[in-house]
Amino acid sequence: MTEQNFIPKPYGKHIESGVVAWESPSNIALIKYWGKKKDQIPENPSISFTLNSCKTITKVSFFKKNDVVNFEFDVFLDGKKKVDFKPKIQTFFERVEDYLPFLRNYKFKIETENTFPHSSGIASSASGMSALALCLMSIERDLLTPLEVTDEYFNQKASFLARLGSGSACRSIEGDIIVWGETKQIEGSSDLFGIKYPYKVHDNFKDYQDTILLVDKGEKQVSSTVGHNLMHNHPYAKNRFQQAHENFEKLKPILESGDLKAFIALVESEALTLHAMMMTSMPYFILMKPKTLEIINKIWKFRQDTGSNISFTLDAGANVHVLYPKNESFEVLEFIKNELVVYCQNGHYICDQIGMGAKKIN
Ligand code: PMV
Repeated sequence: MTEQNFIPKPYGKHIESGVVAWESPSNIALIKYWGKKKDQIPENPSISFTLNSCKTITKVSFFKKNDVVNFEFDVFLDGKKKVDFKPKIQTFFERVEDYLPFLRNYKFKIETENTFPHSSGIASSASGMSALALCLMSIERDLLTPLEVTDEYFNQKASFLARLGSGSACRSIEGDIIVWGETKQIEGSSDLFGIKYPYKVHDNFKDYQDTILLVDKGEKQVSSTVGHNLMHNHPYAKNRFQQAHENFEKLKPILESGDLKAFIALVESEALTLHAMMMTSMPYFILMKPKTLEIINKIWKFRQDTGSNISFTLDAGANVHVLYPKNESFEVLEFIKNELVVYCQNGHYICDQIGMGAKKIN
């Protein structure tokens, strides 16, 4: 597959106006994507659990216009017009217009809402960009004949487009475990789009839980875009990218055998490596907060004291994703309520679990 595969044939159908809607989830990486080349091509492969409850719901209404001079669109979040969202979507439209040549022919009204609080510090870019990409794919599907767009192509191209909006968004189209980035460890893997993890997965990982502890709901001091760029000329970048490939080699037998202890070691090491890359960038930065570290230490102690299979991962922020098998939910949730909620801003946390991907809303 190359980019060329995503340039559509001339549209055979004429549509004056319409409405499409999708809900698309967030995802949490186990092996992290950190560092990219031009056009959102990742420096290393990554793998994630698709989430279930943290999602964006997006409705796109489109109306044919006469001129093709500019992109025309308005964005609404929770019913309120969001002018500050426009530059990001303008950039996205510019990046994808070769692949979606209808974009200049219509005026769009993009209405979006998140199931998680906007100011929770949870990135909405993965769910937001994937939901928008899926809506645009639904419009394209209507403009082509049904046979021209197979479900496989639809998902691949939606993932390809979402990637151009925000890298990790390409892992939010399907579930339950998604790989993005070419690696010889995973057959069919691609830098251009996410694929479903193609090998056997042990039942231990089937209903894996992710409780997100909201340590800091504020705006991040350093954006992901800046962080990715700091991996250029980073003293440890080469080894880090190599390590991600090696971690895929390790993860395959873990996912197959259900070895939770090995899973925990790999996932926690990935999370801390991500943050170690931030701390060793130039300029350096720290996104963890003191409470993030308090939580990590409590999790380690609880695990040591009880033999629990609780673990944590982090994304590019201070919040902690607490991961655990479903059959340990009762004990872990008691532990969270008794010992970890005190570290959450206003006591807030979100219970989520591994999910099956985006859904079309009719
Ligand atoms: O998709 P971006 O550009 O927001 O980068 C996301 C990077 C991490 O969340 C830190 C890791 C990942 O693989 O999701």
